[in-house]
Amino acid sequence: MVLIKSFLLAASLLSSPKSRPHVQCHPKNPSKPIPSSPPWTKTCYVDSNGDGSDDSQNILKDIHKCNPGGHVVFSAGTTYIIRTASDLTFLKSIDLDIQGTIQFTNDTDYWQANSFYHTFQNATTFFQLGGEDVNVFGGGTIDGNGQVWYDLYAADIYILRPILFGTVGLKGGVISGLNLRYSPQWYNFVANSSDIIFDNINIAGGSKSSNIAKNTDGWDTYRSDNIVIQYGHIDNGDCVSFKPNSTNIVVQGLQCNGNHGISVGSLGQDVGEVDTVKNITMSNASDGTRIKVWPGSQSALSGDLQGGGGGSGRKNVTLCNEYPSSLVIENVVIQNFKGTTSTKYDPLVGYLVCSSPTTCHNITVQGMEGVKSPKGNYQFTCANIDESGLHVNCTSKIESRM
Ligand SMILES: *[C@@H]1O[C@H](CO)[C@@H](O)[C@H](O)[C@H]1NC(C)=O
Ligand SMILES: *[C@@H]1O[C@H](CO)[C@@H](O)[C@H](O)[C@H]1NC(C)=O
Ligand SMILES: *[C@@H]1O[C@H](CO)[C@@H](O)[C@H](O)[C@H]1NC(C)=O
Ligand SMILES: *[C@@H]1O[C@H](CO)[C@@H](O)[C@H](O)[C@H]1NC(C)=O
Ligand SMILES: *[C@@H]1O[C@H](CO)[C@@H](O)[C@H](O)[C@H]1NC(C)=O
Ligand SMILES: *[C@@H]1O[C@H](CO)[C@@H](O)[C@H](O)[C@H]1NC(C)=O
Ligand SMILES: *[C@@H]1O[C@H](CO)[C@@H](O)[C@H](O)[C@H]1NC(C)=O
Ligand SMILES: *[C@@H]1O[C@H](CO)[C@@H](O)[C@H](O)[C@H]1NC(C)=O
Ligand SMILES: *[C@@H]1O[C@H](CO)[C@@H](O)[C@H](O)[C@H]1NC(C)=O
Repeated sequence: MVLIKSFLLAASLLSSPKSRPHVQCHPKNPSKPIPSSPPWTKTCYVDSNGDGSDDSQNILKDIHKCNPGGHVVFSAGTTYIIRTASDLTFLKSIDLDIQGTIQFTNDTDYWQANSFYHTFQNATTFFQLGGEDVNVFGGGTIDGNGQVWYDLYAADIYILRPILFGTVGLKGGVISGLNLRYSPQWYNFVANSSDIIFDNINIAGGSKSSNIAKNTDGWDTYRSDNIVIQYGHIDNGDCVSFKPNSTNIVVQGLQCNGNHGISVGSLGQDVGEVDTVKNITMSNASDGTRIKVWPGSQSALSGDLQGGGGGSGRKNVTLCNEYPSSLVIENVVIQNFKGTTSTKYDPLVGYLVCSSPTTCHNITVQGMEGVKSPKGNYQFTCANIDESGLHVNCTSKIESRM
């Protein structure tokens, strides 16, 4: 025991701090510059107990020691076990250099009772990271131990599955070069936050049982402004999903595999704000990009809203036609797509259907010449939409699909 402890201590002392990465945004810059961070004034090394017991007190102690102005190192080759929900919304000018692995326990009873609850869609998070000017990097891994949650969710959709990485009330920061694994639910929830870059985040982790890992979106943004999400690889549910009051969001250079692509709940509520999604590579995806609205009625079909989309009960065209959404969608440009669709809906490659003739205005679809459907001569399904902005061939036959 003594030997093991001193070996771990030696190992953490050997792990050298990494320098803060210089993350550039391209091709699009954030709509407002991300404030720059001052140099470190101190460095703190977090110890792990190394015996499977809770390391969250070790982590909190070093974060308090180094906040503000410091650099907290989670050593390479070390696993930190977390069995306590930590509120990290007090951070100020601090760098978290995660080189090792942070793993949340599989204690579903504890986490359901103690993770941070956000009224929005019953979202809960293992921890919440907020404050001002926070950089997180280091090449390490954050592991949500999701399997037990995927299995539990299959038995009860109302369980509260924590989101792996909660960015809540953060102003200014760069979160880069991390591996996120086996999140019980969405991987990132970005709420009440502004001026943040997520760069080169690698997301993966599916279910090993027959219960699939549902609603494991890469990012969901809510009530947040000026966020860049770029250059990562995402293997999962929705790649990025914009939830209400997400403004000035740039998504670029992501590689999304096996998911629903980019989804829009509701964006740009305030005049003059622009969201851009650019240069996304999508493979094995059910959709490239989607803009989804709820039918305009309280629907008993929604069940748990934790996923905010994707559940088959909500893809109900009859219900949408019966109760058209009153949400207005306007000033949307979809352009320059390239790629090949699957045979599933061939020759249809897209669905441009508004809930009623009065709800969509100024929708432009152009530059789709690079889209190939297996039979060639691809077509879009179009209805309730002004076709003068649609530079594609429309067919008006509505398939029961959304
Ligand atoms: C939970 O984790 C513990 C410790 O790693 C392990 O012994 C146990 O089998 C796990 N339980 C489940 C349900 O996966
Ligand atoms: C965001 O801030 C609003 C207003 O202070 C608050 O009502 C809401 O609970 C916050 N949401 C989250 C997810 O923290
Ligand atoms: C939208 O979010 C911003 C913060 O980004 C907040 O100041 C504003 O009050 C929110 N608007 C609404 C309608 O909730
Ligand atoms: C698009 O993203 C890919 C990575 O997925 C990157 O290699 C490429 O340079 C980007 N293209 C532009 C024009 O930014
Ligand atoms: C698409 O999925 C297949 C089968 O899972 C996989 O082999 C392939 O690598 C995926 N494509 C990309 C570009 O990730
Ligand atoms: C939140 O969870 C409660 C209890 O499980 C459920 O009744 C409610 O519909 C959920 N609300 C949302 C917005 O998902
Ligand atoms: C869709 O909604 C209609 C009207 O409420 C209902 O009759 C029908 O069963 C629903 N279809 C599915 C597939 O849930
Ligand atoms: C139509 O939408 C585009 C793209 O958002 C915008 O630049 C343009 O000003 C809009 N036109 C009108 C008449 O609102
Ligand atoms: C529409 O279809 C016609 C006939 O197949 C074809 O010549 C034309 O290029 C298509 N237009 C677009 C915008 O795809």
